[in-house]
Amino acid sequence: MNKLKQAQEALNNAKGKVNKRYRLGYHIMAPANWINDPNGLVQYKGEYHVFYQHHPYDVNWGPMHWGHMKSKDLVHWEHLPIALAPGDTCDTDGCFSGSAVDNNGELTLIYTGHNHIDKEKDLFYQNQNIAISTDGITFHKVAENPVIPEPPTDSNHHFRDPKVWKHKDNWYMVVGNSTKENVGRVILYRSPDLRKWSYVGVLAQGNEKLGFMWECPDFFELDGKYVLMISPQGIKKDGDLYNNLFQTGYLIGDYNYETNEFIHGSFTELDNGHDFYAVQTFLDEKGRRIAIGWMDMWESDMPTKEDGWCGAYTLPREITLGENDEILMNPVEELSLLREIEHNILTNTVVSGDSLIETKEDLLEIKAVFDLTNCNSQSVGLRIRGVNQEETVLTYHLDKQKLILDCSKSGKVEDSVRNAILRTNEELSLRIFIDRSSIEVFANEGQTTMTSRIYPTENRLGIEVFSDSGEAKIKELTYWKLKDIWK
Ligand code: FRU
Repeated sequence: MNKLKQAQEALNNAKGKVNKRYRLGYHIMAPANWINDPNGLVQYKGEYHVFYQHHPYDVNWGPMHWGHMKSKDLVHWEHLPIALAPGDTCDTDGCFSGSAVDNNGELTLIYTGHNHIDKEKDLFYQNQNIAISTDGITFHKVAENPVIPEPPTDSNHHFRDPKVWKHKDNWYMVVGNSTKENVGRVILYRSPDLRKWSYVGVLAQGNEKLGFMWECPDFFELDGKYVLMISPQGIKKDGDLYNNLFQTGYLIGDYNYETNEFIHGSFTELDNGHDFYAVQTFLDEKGRRIAIGWMDMWESDMPTKEDGWCGAYTLPREITLGENDEILMNPVEELSLLREIEHNILTNTVVSGDSLIETKEDLLEIKAVFDLTNCNSQSVGLRIRGVNQEETVLTYHLDKQKLILDCSKSGKVEDSVRNAILRTNEELSLRIFIDRSSIEVFANEGQTTMTSRIYPTENRLGIEVFSDSGEAKIKELTYWKLKDIWK
């Protein structure tokens, strides 16, 4: 049987066995089994396409396929047949991460072929390939593959995750790579036709502190600045920074296409939660730069494996540039389509201690605005999905100017707390999206975001607002019951 058909059949069988307790209600997930990085984000013939690293045969990572879904509005998603299966000459052991472009009506996927030399010893080589489609559903790998057979000679064997875009008359590709000395970097290629590529040079390179490999690069212009997003492996934890196994963050600066000079500042993490990795962006027809990340982390506890599925994506987020050239991330405006019932709970109210709001909903958007001027509390915040025995706690500590997400009582027993600097003495505005097994926090218009998977018991519901040793002035507390798009 053909590889795609066989994979699709395995997936269809697995789908019937999925246990729904933690299934998300409005996030991108596969029908069953494993997914990791988002791939090939693109708007094609008006519709949004998302591909994903997928193992259709198992809840654990394995030979990578590309799963596929599309949406008209970035809110309601439709599953499509698996787009790529590994096992051909150039991708014997995996179709690894990559991107998609609309080449005059031909949807082109650019992906890494992963090939074992010795599986036991984890010896492999990687190359870059393309597959094309005219209907946006069925893809075929081209005869010219691999379009880039090997990395430059000063590289080691890590050579993956091509992100392609067009600038003037040429296509450009950034690829994640590493030097012979194991220093992470991103290299650049150029092509007139997506098939013949010439090596331009190194776009950016780290040092021993910035990891041994930079995965999933993305490079784009944002309001006159240039942003290189990377997912480095091997950066060591440093206080509140770099607490996850791997990070996703960015370098921002100025770029000259003529000289390939990228002058940039230091590496900044993009999100401060537990589960955020391998982010990719695309430009949509409205001119928005939209980011989607994998809402999990390598080697973390993933209790949904027991339920026959594993892995999900963040909500689509619009990326904009802040006043100090920092990146702001906010949910795309279409997500208000999810709102079913609005409950305006508090307006201009003073809370001292705890104030419990009963809610029976597990799919929620919460908007909480605290007035911090003359606030005498040490901290203010919200307990979500249960209190005391089980809860997810979001606290703003006024002296420390830190937003703290504590998931110790919602399934993250070890390494449960994340801290993020958020400087404000005036207002703390939180938009929080709660799904059955996730929390995404957008603070002060996307200045700080925190994304984590949580695993509360089904009947742990409710929200509690609190202030510690003082009063909290709440300008607004509203929540919405959100729609389950998968029902
Ligand atoms: C990032 C990554 C990529 C690779 C893919 C394999 O999470 O390791 O570098 O292409 O996952 O599934």
